[in-house]
Amino acid sequence: MITGDPAQLRQVLVNLVTNAAEAAGSQAGTIRISTGLLRADAAYLSRAYGDGDLPEGTYAYLEVADNGQGMDAATLAHLFDPFFSTKGNGRGLGLAATLGIVRRHRGGLLVESEPGRGTTVRALFPCAGPSPAAAPPPARAAATEDPAARTWRGSGTILVVDDEEVVRQVTSTMLRLLGFSVLLASDGVEGVALFARHHAEIAAVLLDLAMPHMTGDQAFDEIQRIRPDACVILSSGYTERDAMSRFAGKGLAGFLQKPYELQALAAKLREVLSRSPARERPADAS
Ligand SMILES: Nc1ncnc2c1ncn2[C@@H]1O[C@H](COP(=O)(O)OP(=O)(O)OP(=O)(O)O)[C@@H](O)[C@H]1O
Ligand SMILES: [Mg+2]
Repeated sequence: MITGDPAQLRQVLVNLVTNAAEAAGSQAGTIRISTGLLRADAAYLSRAYGDGDLPEGTYAYLEVADNGQGMDAATLAHLFDPFFSTKGNGRGLGLAATLGIVRRHRGGLLVESEPGRGTTVRALFPCAGPSPAAAPPPARAAATEDPAARTWRGSGTILVVDDEEVVRQVTSTMLRLLGFSVLLASDGVEGVALFARHHAEIAAVLLDLAMPHMTGDQAFDEIQRIRPDACVILSSGYTERDAMSRFAGKGLAGFLQKPYELQALAAKLREVLSRSPARERPADAS
């Protein structure tokens, strides 16, 4: 977890990737973008551009590496100077701005480059609060507090609508472990068609938001037309607030933040299905 301004951090990424792309020139090249955590000691931090006295500790990094033309010593010496550019007049602000943003976030920049061998720029940002490894994820913590949640098993069929193959595979494995039967659809159109055919046995629908052909919110409207009391859980990589804003007042049963683990999936299904027990026994529902 870091504390930062999303627009400025996006700008850092754009500036670094633009430079990496331009370093390839007319040749094909590879740009590798990665993020991670590292422990930085004083020796490591002394090589970073930034505000001199960065404290030792855990930093999150964003790294952009290219295999383009690289830089010679003369270029490296002036890299961050405003209007220093090998690309023409009026340019040379990208890295100056990038360094400014990184400084404002109390971070640092490390650059490795050799002529003809590419460039790696790593932006460090200090971690806010305990590192993620130290804090147990909330879902797991909840599961240990409530032993019933761990052994809970459901019944009936869950329809999973998601355009990502790996999500469908992993989720259906988890659902079967929990005792459910599973129907899979790879987009909204297929999902609505399956719901129309099987709604009598479907206890709940796990619906992705962003999909090709028919988005989750359109699919939700269709599903509600078929069965107004349909139990639909939206599952999305967007935050709950962003995702749910499209569904305000529409009677969505719940929201599940992606990516989720077995315990989070079980807890959410348990919550929404206990609210409407009839859906667990579709035979009595109609
Ligand atoms: N990934 C890279 N590979 C090779 N050279 C680079 C790379 N990144 C930066 N440089 C060198 O550093 C100089 C300054 O980069 P900076 O991003 O500040 O300005 P610019 O890319 O020239 O122009 P602008 O970003 O304002 O459009 C570049 O002109 C280039 O010579
Ligand atoms: Mg640039």
